[in-house]
Amino acid sequence: MSVAVGTMQAAREFLADLRREVEHHAAVGHSVLARMRLDPRSPEDFRVLGGQHYPLVCCFTRYLECLLLTAPDATDKLWLARVLVDEYGEGSRGLDHAALYRRFLAAVGLEGGEERRVDLHPAVVEFIALHLATCAGEPFLVGLGAVGPGHEWAIPSMFPHLIAGLRRAGLGEDAIEYFTLHVEQDRDHGAWMEEALLRHAAEPAAQAAIRTGALRSLAARERFWWGVADKLLARPAREGGFPGSTAGSAREWTLEAVEARLAVRPVPSDPGLAGTPA
Ligand SMILES: [Fe+2]
Ligand SMILES: [Fe+2]
Repeated sequence: MSVAVGTMQAAREFLADLRREVEHHAAVGHSVLARMRLDPRSPEDFRVLGGQHYPLVCCFTRYLECLLLTAPDATDKLWLARVLVDEYGEGSRGLDHAALYRRFLAAVGLEGGEERRVDLHPAVVEFIALHLATCAGEPFLVGLGAVGPGHEWAIPSMFPHLIAGLRRAGLGEDAIEYFTLHVEQDRDHGAWMEEALLRHAAEPAAQAAIRTGALRSLAARERFWWGVADKLLARPAREGGFPGSTAGSAREWTLEAVEARLAVRPVPSDPGLAGTPA
């Protein structure tokens, strides 16, 4: 076996192991997701979930844009740019993914700029801050591990649970397009990220950096789902039921505040749902 073939084999084996680790992570099989097929679900539940999830959707392109600046060469930038072009709306009729998500939010009654003023759970803010810090300030491979295995590999395993719950809540296919599109599109994105990873993943130090980023992202994702669970618990509280433990603990944090304080590019609101890519 030549050195180059052996090197590539080591990279492929590492990435196959990492794929298995991602698919079995507690974030990917979280109870919020698994119970989508068991518990009754209503559009109001998804108004709560969507209000917490939307800021993550808005900030994802910023992580990739940060990584473009630190990518070591043009080939790495090319793989990242391919993903970004889709995120900007190339594969979704010119609607960038935040605009696509706002169509879903409107279907569950969150629109007209209200989606930017939702009280965010601390785990949402922490998720965004951690990924911005990782992609802007850490070695390139740590960031690539966070957005590749941490995001693009995980989403096709997480979203089918959400889609089952969305359909059980009576939402139509147009309303849930963001989710169904991502199950398909993120398989491509995950494969493109894997092409970028393959070029670097042969050496133990590089493997450790990639895995660190992936597991850091997934740990934050697990905390994010617990935050969503807490917000879902808090919803009946407003109707006289059980008070969620952190229902009001992050009142100073909204998407508007995240953009202002964490220096994320503002995402234009699109109350008319006819938005152009940001
Ligand atoms: Fe996306
Ligand atoms: Fe993606």
